[in-house]
Amino acid sequence: MLIHSAAQLVTLTAQPQRGSRMGELNIIPDGAVLIEGETIAAVGASRELLERYPHEERYDAGGRAVIPGFVDPHTHLIWAGNRAAEFEMRLEGKSYMEIMAAGGGIQSTVNATRAAAPADLLAQTRARAREIFALGTTTAEGKTGYGLEWESELKEMQMLLELDRQGPLEIWPTFLPAHAVPSEYTGRADEYVALICDRMLPELKSWWAANAAGRPLPFVDVFCEKGAFSLEQTRRIFESAQSLGYPLKVHADEFENLGGARLAMQMGAASADHLVKTSPEEINLFGKSPTAAVALPCTPFGLHEAEYTPAKEIIEKGGLLALASDLNPGTAWCGNMQFVVALACRAMRLTPAQALAAATINAAAAIRREEALGSIHPGKQADLLVLAVDDYRHLAYRFGGSLVQEIFKKGQLYTKTQLC
Ligand code: NIG
Ligand code: FE
Repeated sequence: MLIHSAAQLVTLTAQPQRGSRMGELNIIPDGAVLIEGETIAAVGASRELLERYPHEERYDAGGRAVIPGFVDPHTHLIWAGNRAAEFEMRLEGKSYMEIMAAGGGIQSTVNATRAAAPADLLAQTRARAREIFALGTTTAEGKTGYGLEWESELKEMQMLLELDRQGPLEIWPTFLPAHAVPSEYTGRADEYVALICDRMLPELKSWWAANAAGRPLPFVDVFCEKGAFSLEQTRRIFESAQSLGYPLKVHADEFENLGGARLAMQMGAASADHLVKTSPEEINLFGKSPTAAVALPCTPFGLHEAEYTPAKEIIEKGGLLALASDLNPGTAWCGNMQFVVALACRAMRLTPAQALAAATINAAAAIRREEALGSIHPGKQADLLVLAVDDYRHLAYRFGGSLVQEIFKKGQLYTKTQLC
């Protein structure tokens, strides 16, 4: 298939972007892409590729912009129920952490998720997967974390793998039993940490060898926060996970700085996410670290908090900045990466080009998939968005809707009617 006549073919760079190179889009005007099977085979000017491949099946992009599919490196895709009542409590003045401490918050979604019939949980999650795919997310990380007991966590992991198998959304899973201390362990958090380290992580590894051999092990993530897991508990979970070969991720500095971001960098985590209360010293460290710094602007927006990730500073210091949605029922029920880009430009002062790089190639790096995803280069997977406009900047300029017209995922075309 030869895609041609893209007003802007926004190729980005094959590798993640940092510092002054952040926002390098390498736009080919009147661009073309040759797809062979699931893979990008050639990229260039339309005139040149049409001449070189005269017998290929053609797709006329009709003077619209073509960009890489969004990669969303932080979602809590799988849950049942909703917390609309808590949202209203927050509007009346209760804080997220107060609601959580009173037994609401994550625990209330855990109760709903444990109680849901498996078919129902799968159907609710599949609907969300379809919705974010139609909005341009061709690959998403997806976390467990609303089970908080072995059977439920494993069930969530199995469903994430099943949804990935069904497609078209590609899902890279993360194991997050350390999302909250479940109510049955109240006052015994260390025992729950021991259960994670001594039982869940080894059992998941054996399960993986028997049922998902050939796939890389999932990430292991911890919500390192006051009211969730302390720095010491996070370290214990990370050490156990790392000794078993799991790659790491962390939720850090969402409300308070416990040192989780520094720990994640010291331990070579793939990413540290949230980073609202991150210190200047830690921002400096990101400049020298392979760990991606993932900003989740929908979370302060969803909580109506004034403070966002110091994304500009992270870029200035040379850090690998990525963007994600944090799609979840508590703080940010929004998986629209187009809105994330638009919000990042306003609340964190990124340029549209920087935001796009953060939501594609750098987001791919945050899930260690930059060799295959996140840019339009020969050899990479053919995951492309055809926009309804001729200039990528409209993604940042407009907000609240969708400018994604058609999608190529692993080389296969999904038209507007298939996306509805
Ligand atoms: O990333 N902070 C922890 N986890 C989610 C919120 C989950 C929830 O409230 O259900 C987050 O914001
Ligand atoms: Fe999260």
